[in-house]
Amino acid sequence: MKQVVSPVISNDEIMPGGYLMWLDCPQIASVAVPGQFVMVLCRRRDGDVPLLRRPLSVHRVNGGRLALLYAVVGQGTQWLAERKTGDGIDILGPLGNNFTINVDSKKLLLVAGGMGIAPTVALADYAIDRGYITTLLIGCGSASYMYPAGQLDRAVSVGLNVVVATEDGSMGRKGMVTAALADLSPAADQIYACGPLPMYRAISGDIDMLGGKPTQVCLEQMMGCGWGVCYGCTVETENGLQKVCQDGPVFDIKDVLWNSVVDPVVGRI
Ligand code: FES
Repeated sequence: MKQVVSPVISNDEIMPGGYLMWLDCPQIASVAVPGQFVMVLCRRRDGDVPLLRRPLSVHRVNGGRLALLYAVVGQGTQWLAERKTGDGIDILGPLGNNFTINVDSKKLLLVAGGMGIAPTVALADYAIDRGYITTLLIGCGSASYMYPAGQLDRAVSVGLNVVVATEDGSMGRKGMVTAALADLSPAADQIYACGPLPMYRAISGDIDMLGGKPTQVCLEQMMGCGWGVCYGCTVETENGLQKVCQDGPVFDIKDVLWNSVVDPVVGRI
């Protein structure tokens, strides 16, 4: 884990309220793996609010560059959205565990609901570059909120299969991403899902839609410290209380006691 102040390369709104920030950060980019996250100080170092860092998933790495994808949901992320090229961002990471691919898996199904696309693209890049047959299923409310297809051009050019679903039918398949998941899961050896808590609850409540395939999820939780000190991120699991920041954020979907998990959307900074 390193704490660095990294210059912003670019910071663009690529979908409504969703920003893609590239940082020049070789110290973290060189060691980060898909599923991990960084804690971002969303204020000037001599400022006092918001006090806590904001956890953001590793969205992409490219050489010494690190990409973060974030939604503006409060004061901290609004401050982040206003940063310009050359501004320094204080980040801590990489943190947490990571997605794992079983030795006998060849076909991977990645499922992203809403901003769950943030960690999923890192895994898509990783898997496709290592020769896995990879399908990325992206779901959101409507076409105007869809992750831009152009961001995936390179991965698609080397074999990534992209399927999209929108609830209003304005792009791709019409309906919830979970319906498309049920159709695609039989062809996969392993499944990875990232999205809001209601999506996880829907999947865990109807485990048949996974076709019996091993499934990992990436949990989002409010975090105080990000490295196991404050116990502010604990969730109940089959293995007892676990810290999302240290034991996760990646868990087996069957291990989490979903009814005990608090939706982190409440109280975002
Ligand atoms: Fe402090 Fe996880 S955020 S222990």
